[in-house]
Amino acid sequence: MNRHSIEFPGTGISGDDVISKLKSLKMNDAPWRNGRMFGYIYHAGDRESRVIEQAYHMFCNENALNPSLFSSLRKLENETVAMVADLLHAGEDYAGNMTTGGSESILVAVKTGRDWARKHKPEIREPEMIAPVTTHPAFSKAVDLTGVTVRYAPISEDKKVDVDAIEKMINSNTVMITASAPCFPYGVIDPIEEIGAVAKKHNLLFHVDSCLGGLMLPFVEDLGYEIPPFDFRVSGVTSISADIHKYGYSPKGASVIIYRSHELRKSQYFVMSSWPGGLYASPTMLGTRSGAPMAAAWAALKTIGRDGYVRMADRVMTSTARMREGIEAIPGLKVMAKPVMSIFAFTSEKHDIYRVGDELAKRGWNLDKLQFPSALHMTVSYCNTGHEDEFLSALKESVAAVEGHKIRDASSHVLISVVRAMSKLLPVKWFRKLTSRFTGSMDSKEKGAATTGAAAYGMMVAIDNRENVDEIMLDVLDKLYTV
Ligand SMILES: Cc1ncc(COP(=O)(O)O)c(C=O)c1O
Repeated sequence: MNRHSIEFPGTGISGDDVISKLKSLKMNDAPWRNGRMFGYIYHAGDRESRVIEQAYHMFCNENALNPSLFSSLRKLENETVAMVADLLHAGEDYAGNMTTGGSESILVAVKTGRDWARKHKPEIREPEMIAPVTTHPAFSKAVDLTGVTVRYAPISEDKKVDVDAIEKMINSNTVMITASAPCFPYGVIDPIEEIGAVAKKHNLLFHVDSCLGGLMLPFVEDLGYEIPPFDFRVSGVTSISADIHKYGYSPKGASVIIYRSHELRKSQYFVMSSWPGGLYASPTMLGTRSGAPMAAAWAALKTIGRDGYVRMADRVMTSTARMREGIEAIPGLKVMAKPVMSIFAFTSEKHDIYRVGDELAKRGWNLDKLQFPSALHMTVSYCNTGHEDEFLSALKESVAAVEGHKIRDASSHVLISVVRAMSKLLPVKWFRKLTSRFTGSMDSKEKGAATTGAAAYGMMVAIDNRENVDEIMLDVLDKLYTV
């Protein structure tokens, strides 16, 4: 038996033993109920969660692959899509499906673009899509899988995509444009109305990725904040992805993809009528589809309701404003763009911001790291509200702890120069060997906090040859998913 393997269980162990093993595994996870984790957990509070979790358990065995056997799931899916379509002002002819998350919604949206072009623009042999550089990597993954080529459009000073640049990039192969409402890195909404007009003028599809904002922006608008039009009210928008497992506060595995018309959605479907196993049809990427996240998402929308979402959005917006203002009051820190809802990034020209992130992580606060330029990221949701003072004092302490360190201290500066030079000169295999020592620290855990060591991360960001960084990341993934 090789050293990585685990023997398949012989005699089953008792249920109590299974659960106690699971409990002990869970104890190593970073805590989130203390409000110190941003962006990975969206939790509605205990009353709502009890209902949502009960709905999840009720449907954990049911399979949405066959809608005639499980008509409950078909109804739950259709109603969930309908409720979100109503929120996003989809017209009479809208059509949509539930998927397992933002990445799957985006994947099917890109596949739809490709297949729509095959039908309506058969002269296009090599379909292309234009996307802002800030769009989520799910688009890169989607084009990789569908054979569409993506061309990235630059962003302007305000971090929104440059619409003139998009229009200049359109060529005879372009089939679709995408933009974010809002984008993950800076929390700003791209100019959806202007892009919609460009898409219409050139007869292109236009997908709005509102995975983050779809279940938040409408309620922020209800509160009286000014939100630029981002949904189906913009006539050029042809599809929208919106995740219920984010600001819809349902368990993971729930997103919707909505199209302006039934005709367009047909390009999303997969059917096979020649299989000996029977007539096969599936609406999204998966075959077997768990009923649990569908029922839970439906339950979340029903039990929280518009009133509840508006109340939660109000707390989140107030909390975001306090955190943002508190960060800006700390000398040396700067919020990178005015967030439209509750997502933003902050950077520093004075301090090594990754070290600040590591100091925060030591204190139990988990913030993602951004690059180009280096920054820390905040996704404030309901479970973070009420913790603003604690957060700001931890941040002040963290900044004080790195005070006096240059942006990169001498040793890591030398290390980065050496690694950069090596990255240009060495064949990939050797380069990987050289860097494997540093990347070992990339999944290190400190006090239950997922720290990604500032030095290792800084090194990766500084390497000009991004293909080498990709290779290192493949190695890191490989290590992570090995027993
Ligand atoms: C803007 C945006 N789009 C898409 C996604 C992908 O969503 P998921 O992780 O559910 O696949 C994310 C995830 O954070 C996101 O922020």
